[in-house]
Amino acid sequence: MNHLKHVAIIMDGNGRWGIKHKKSRNLGHKAGLNTVEKIIRSSVKNKVKYLTLYAFSTENWKRPTNEINFLFNLLNDFIDQKINDFIKNKIKLKIIGNINPFKNKLKKKLKKSEQLTKKNNKLQVNLALNYGSKFELINAFKKISKNKKNINVKNIEKNLYTSSIPDPDILIRTGNTNRLSNFLLWQIAYSEIFFEKKLWPDFNENDYNIILKKFRKTKRNYGNI
Ligand code: FPP
Repeated sequence: MNHLKHVAIIMDGNGRWGIKHKKSRNLGHKAGLNTVEKIIRSSVKNKVKYLTLYAFSTENWKRPTNEINFLFNLLNDFIDQKINDFIKNKIKLKIIGNINPFKNKLKKKLKKSEQLTKKNNKLQVNLALNYGSKFELINAFKKISKNKKNINVKNIEKNLYTSSIPDPDILIRTGNTNRLSNFLLWQIAYSEIFFEKKLWPDFNENDYNIILKKFRKTKRNYGNI
């Protein structure tokens, strides 16, 4: 049976769900937040150690301002409402991505939340915010060359946001779209990928458990036979 440590998720389909059920993309994001909470709870139950959620990509800035603002308000409220639960349930929060362009108040809140939860060890939730894999890799190469080090696997991994985090065992993408959208391209070299037809707000604990069960039964070869 495969040991499961790290699940990464591309939470796609909020916009379509919102239009279909509420005539508003933003309300789809709001509904998506309920699924985030469910999947965090379920990850703890399943003894997953790392859960990486793609919440905002470097490409998402192309969206209408109204939607971007809505997403950032949702993030702000999520932190306010959940930080005590994280502390109580020993969940560590880590941000991956470039939060430099964020408003100071939000930046501070995110940093403080990381600080408050940094000793927690039940589950680590990595929230990918203004994250893009190509940007991450370019920065890693730049740092290596600035420090006059060799370009090799060890040095590249040391300079990724995910240094000290094992690679994902599973990557899930909901929303019936089969692409990777610049997410963890280096780290998923050997991950098992599950494309899920359901839109993110419809994805539930049962769907998640089915995927985890399938993974546990998969034979992983890593290039061997
Ligand atoms: C992709 O769906 C989803 C996003 C770009 C945002 C993900 C955000 C959430 C799940 C809620 C906020 C989460 C946190 C942790 C604060 P889409 O909008 O691309 O959907 P579509 O493909 O149907 O248009």
